[in-house]
Amino acid sequence: MEDINGLSIPSSIAIIMDGNGRWAQKRGLSRNMGHKEGCRTVEQIIEDCARLGVKYLTVYAFSTENWKRSEDEVTGLMQLFRYYAGRLLAKARDNNVRVLMIGDRSRFPKDIIASIDRLESETAGNTGMTFVMAANYGGRDEIRRAAARYAMDAKDGKTDPSELTEEEFSEYLDTKSIPDPDLLIRTSGELRLSNFLLWQCAYSEIVITDVYWPDFDRDELIRCITEFNGRKRRFGGV
Ligand code: FPP
Repeated sequence: MEDINGLSIPSSIAIIMDGNGRWAQKRGLSRNMGHKEGCRTVEQIIEDCARLGVKYLTVYAFSTENWKRSEDEVTGLMQLFRYYAGRLLAKARDNNVRVLMIGDRSRFPKDIIASIDRLESETAGNTGMTFVMAANYGGRDEIRRAAARYAMDAKDGKTDPSELTEEEFSEYLDTKSIPDPDLLIRTSGELRLSNFLLWQCAYSEIVITDVYWPDFDRDELIRCITEFNGRKRRFGGV
């Protein structure tokens, strides 16, 4: 952790970006306008976190359950991915940020898969913060896919299930190179995990803010980090 003005900055932060729809509804706008504003917030928060010295920022961009939304909303979100992929690349270059994606990308349209691949490959050499986008991600789905791959390796004799450790199993998760979140932030007041990073958040400190995601900014981020600083982390010990 880095120390800025007496505040310890968590090295790994994860965010459930909730409230785009309600933000839009309050203004008589379409839900997709809320998502568009939400994308602006993502861009700004990447920069703020990188400057504060956060090492890993993981955001929940699209869950395995989000396909159930209206066709209009899903199409709108895909269009936003297309548009923002280019902007994210520029943002990553300007801030020395490496981009990774977790989740099952195979369900996305081909051009979106290509732009995700490009985001990862063109930023792979950046040495600053790692920005992780969870897209078509679900914690249970991630654990299911990991278990299936582990079982295949066990069947091939590459690994011995009687010797399996948590560390070894973690290597099969999408987050294998990403430290568990120290701080999990959820915007817009709901008190649930919504299938996000179920394995990884075992000991994360959870901070909930009532602010809708499009209104989330650096000041609110600092408030969340300040609340985190007041917590005593015991990791199950005394
Ligand atoms: C939750 O708000 C938000 C989502 C399901 C999508 C979040 C996506 C973005 C902010 C865009 C990310 C894009 C990129 C390129 C990183 P909600 O619609 O559930 O809000 P509500 O609970 O008020 O209806």
